[in-house]
Amino acid sequence: MPDLLMEGISKTYPNGVKALVDVNFEAKNGEIHGLLGENGAGKTTLMNVLYGTITKDAGTIYLNGKRVEIGSPSDALKLGVGMVHQHFMLIPAFTVAENVAAMESSAKDVTKKLDLNKVKEKIRSISQISGLEVDPDALVENLAVGQQQRVDIIKLLYRGANLLLLDEPTSVLNPLEIHHFFDVLRRFKQENKTVIFITHKLEEILEVCDRVTVLRKGRVVGTLDTKGVSIRELAVMMIGAGSEALLEYSAPSRQPEESSAALRVDNVVVLDWRGVKKVDGVSFEIHSGEIFGIAGVEGNGQAELVRAIAGIDLISEGRLYLDGKELKNSRKIVIKSGVGYIPDDRLKWGLCGNFSVAENMILGVDVESRFNTRFYLNYRPIKKMARELIARFKIVTPNENVPVKSLSGGNQQKVITAREISKEPRIIIAHEPTHGLDISATRYIHNLLLELRNQGKAVLLVSSDTDEILKLSDRIAVMSRGKIVGISRREEVNMERLGLMMGGVRATAE
Ligand SMILES: Nc1ncnc2c1ncn2[C@@H]1O[C@H](COP(=O)(O)OP(=O)(O)OP(=O)(O)O)[C@@H](O)[C@H]1O
Ligand SMILES: [Mg+2]
Repeated sequence: MPDLLMEGISKTYPNGVKALVDVNFEAKNGEIHGLLGENGAGKTTLMNVLYGTITKDAGTIYLNGKRVEIGSPSDALKLGVGMVHQHFMLIPAFTVAENVAAMESSAKDVTKKLDLNKVKEKIRSISQISGLEVDPDALVENLAVGQQQRVDIIKLLYRGANLLLLDEPTSVLNPLEIHHFFDVLRRFKQENKTVIFITHKLEEILEVCDRVTVLRKGRVVGTLDTKGVSIRELAVMMIGAGSEALLEYSAPSRQPEESSAALRVDNVVVLDWRGVKKVDGVSFEIHSGEIFGIAGVEGNGQAELVRAIAGIDLISEGRLYLDGKELKNSRKIVIKSGVGYIPDDRLKWGLCGNFSVAENMILGVDVESRFNTRFYLNYRPIKKMARELIARFKIVTPNENVPVKSLSGGNQQKVITAREISKEPRIIIAHEPTHGLDISATRYIHNLLLELRNQGKAVLLVSSDTDEILKLSDRIAVMSRGKIVGISRREEVNMERLGLMMGGVRATAE
């Protein structure tokens, strides 16, 4: 019997969605096992069943030959099963050590000095063995995302987890961090720990996994050894015939219209709450009919820049111009001026989780009279529009009335994109627009952005995915430590040069 066996697992959500249908899944100790499937295939659901955050309707779980009942994460942890979710479970105002300690004891005694010193010592030893380096005294809120992820994993190792369920861990990491992260996974393997690794990047599966299981619409398509398998074969398993065309494509770049700039960013400075310059005098122009890409390792000021242009973060110096006229630094005015905004953090800036899909589709549009009578929202046209968008964007949802938080990650992203595009914006800001999307949805969004460009709209694409930037952008800027270190036409750059610039090496020729 394999070391982990999930047999006949089925799960239908209360809204009738059959997320898992008679799934058999197994993993061996000391293996890295990939879990692959399109958005909504059931990957997260399967892992949540194993971690005890979701109750299954049917099926049995065996660990090391013994049948187990996992009714909660604390049951799971007792059995050595730990899960890292896409959203980390950390307390920002606590230090690393306090966060780790908080998982074991009640919050009030985590500050006891004696306990904490022991905790720190153990964290250091875990760091050393696993390669997950963090400072136990650092405040979690001051850590970059990649480091927060380390803390989340350390928390599980501290509790003795030896079966680690990692849900899209690489989606928040930059290429260098991913490289290091894979080394950590290989060390786990040497210690005979088991890793189940969810990702949408097929090349990552081939690079680090021993085996891979593919899910499609809640059913297992198969489990394979990754040796000798190609990316194409994986894509076909995941999506079916015709998927090859999704893998290889690149759109020719385009000379923008020789008009004046649609959006001009002039010497913009954005400070964080401590007064530190996050965006340090950034200037560029985007023309109609152009995709202007900003590449860079996450955390170099792109997020603040994007939010400032969208009217969320405060601009402390500098100005924005839309078609030559000053654009005020106010969210309301930015929306009214026809600037579409696809945010990177869907649940924080883009969606209201408890609201329905239909309601989410009119967020920011609701000033319009067609949805608004004097005192209440007119639901009929809202629902009608929602149904149209669901069909046009192929959003997987039972209907427009379910809460948006019950959609899979990729489908939530589609709801935002559909809404922003449906506003027929003059300019569209797309920040990590394909984060967490499977390859068909990614292709769909890419085509959409290209189509908008061809219609003469100005597109600002900000992405930490260098492939995406190189595929779509007509001009590419690289941001490092709050500054733009170079702007080039796409033909003039390649991966290597972009990588150097992302590390802060200033481009010589422009
Ligand atoms: N809490 C929930 N309530 C109702 N339906 C849900 C809930 N969570 C997920 N679903 C549905 O179950 C199906 C499987 O979702 P799941 O999140 O497991 O997919 P996934 O493979 O992880 O997708 P993604 O790659 O987008 O993260 C989807 O159709 C989703 O809409
Ligand atoms: Mg998921």
